[in-house]
Amino acid sequence: MAKGKTRYVCQACGAVAARWAGQCADCREWNTLAEEAAPVFTPFAAKQSLQTGGRRIALESLADEVALPARLSTGMDELDRALGGGLVAGSVTLIGGDPGIGKSTLLLQAAGKMARSGAGVAYVSGEEAADQVRLRARRLGLAKAHVALAAETNVRDILTTLTGMATAPGLVIIDSIQTMHSDTLEGAPGTVSQVRASAQELIRYAKLSGAALILVGHVTKDGQLAGPRVLEHMVDTVLYFEGERSHQYRILRAVKNRFGGTDEIGVFAMGSEGLEQVANPSSLFLTSRTEGASVTGAVVFPALEGTRPVLCEIQALVVRVPSGATPRRAVVGWDSGRLAMLLAVLEARCGLAFGGHEVYLNVAGGLRIADPAADLAVACALVSALTDRPLPGDAVAFGEVALSGELRAAGLASLRLKEAAKLGFGRAFVPESGGDAKGSGPISVAGFRTLGALVDHLARAD
Ligand code: TYD
Ligand code: MG
Repeated sequence: MAKGKTRYVCQACGAVAARWAGQCADCREWNTLAEEAAPVFTPFAAKQSLQTGGRRIALESLADEVALPARLSTGMDELDRALGGGLVAGSVTLIGGDPGIGKSTLLLQAAGKMARSGAGVAYVSGEEAADQVRLRARRLGLAKAHVALAAETNVRDILTTLTGMATAPGLVIIDSIQTMHSDTLEGAPGTVSQVRASAQELIRYAKLSGAALILVGHVTKDGQLAGPRVLEHMVDTVLYFEGERSHQYRILRAVKNRFGGTDEIGVFAMGSEGLEQVANPSSLFLTSRTEGASVTGAVVFPALEGTRPVLCEIQALVVRVPSGATPRRAVVGWDSGRLAMLLAVLEARCGLAFGGHEVYLNVAGGLRIADPAADLAVACALVSALTDRPLPGDAVAFGEVALSGELRAAGLASLRLKEAAKLGFGRAFVPESGGDAKGSGPISVAGFRTLGALVDHLARAD
């Protein structure tokens, strides 16, 4: 390819094509190819062997002593927790999330708190004007925090400013990477090559200066970081900020962390004064529940979010339909395929027919559950709704249901039981092979081998 030529780059996967096409040949996405200037290519250098002529690098031992990286607290425990204990100097963190979920709010709050504790913080907004950011800071009660603020999108100008600051900042926030552009490249901000080039320059700055860098990334309709997945490979830590905009709670989840585990989450609630930290998430999802009350179709499920137990309420409603009509099944917060499977197991193994009923299932509070241990809680809610008999108000249920109707132990049962006991629950329905579920202090554990046995027990109990 000679100089001045253009090429077509897929904005979803980064594949390069010589000609425009409606569909990317690599990832099969439609309408993702965008025209970009081809990089200058020198055929002579490429033909040379790379086995000679280089500089010798010193090889080191893996066993050499290293100090653990120092952690910089963001002043927000829930954010620190998701980061695996705080920010690491010179590290790069990418925060993704739907528009309006609260990424800018979260980072402005963290910036304010860190500035107050004496750290140098620079906040660069490419999306909002400085006045807008200032107004938001005022609403958040952070107007007096010494955050160096800029509304800018040119990476060269940003880096020149940052390196020229009298005291180098300990934290730099770029909101968002899709608005940044590098003047070394043609093309509009937000294209793969612009995002990649801007990120590369900013990351190099972070590694050289030792500043912790946080990049905000947009998320596309199907939940991926917009444009380049490549960005995820370039950074040290990737966090996703999730939640329903219509609900209060937000979960900050680590999906990649070079400095810690990815099983920790941070929980926040969006309020009138920004994001509040929720140290005890179970209380958030059980707030509307009257203590000890038992309603038909409602079951408390001790879910695990990473290694953190979160109690939530599963609600089922079963409505008779006239014979002949196809009954509806609707699910919010759980997998509808899994519901169909459970209904089939209840019918085939326990003799409970839902065929003449519409079934509605809801996870209260807008939580989305992916934990397979929800099976048993959902089954209990369905049985309770169908038979019109409430479960004991102080009961929780968890465990996996197999197609044979047998119950399988859930992971980290003792953690779930401990959390349930902490919130005043007195008994738990679990699989008999409950793993570490036995002998857990104040909570009485009833183990069942099959779903049928549990259904019988519920039918007999008062
Ligand atoms: P924002 O941080 O701008 O989202 P993002 O940067 O992820 O796009 O979040 C804005 C939303 O949060 C907006 O819809 C209003 C709401 N919000 C509150 O409810 N309370 C507040 O104190 C603030 C600052 C925002
Ligand atoms: Mg924003």
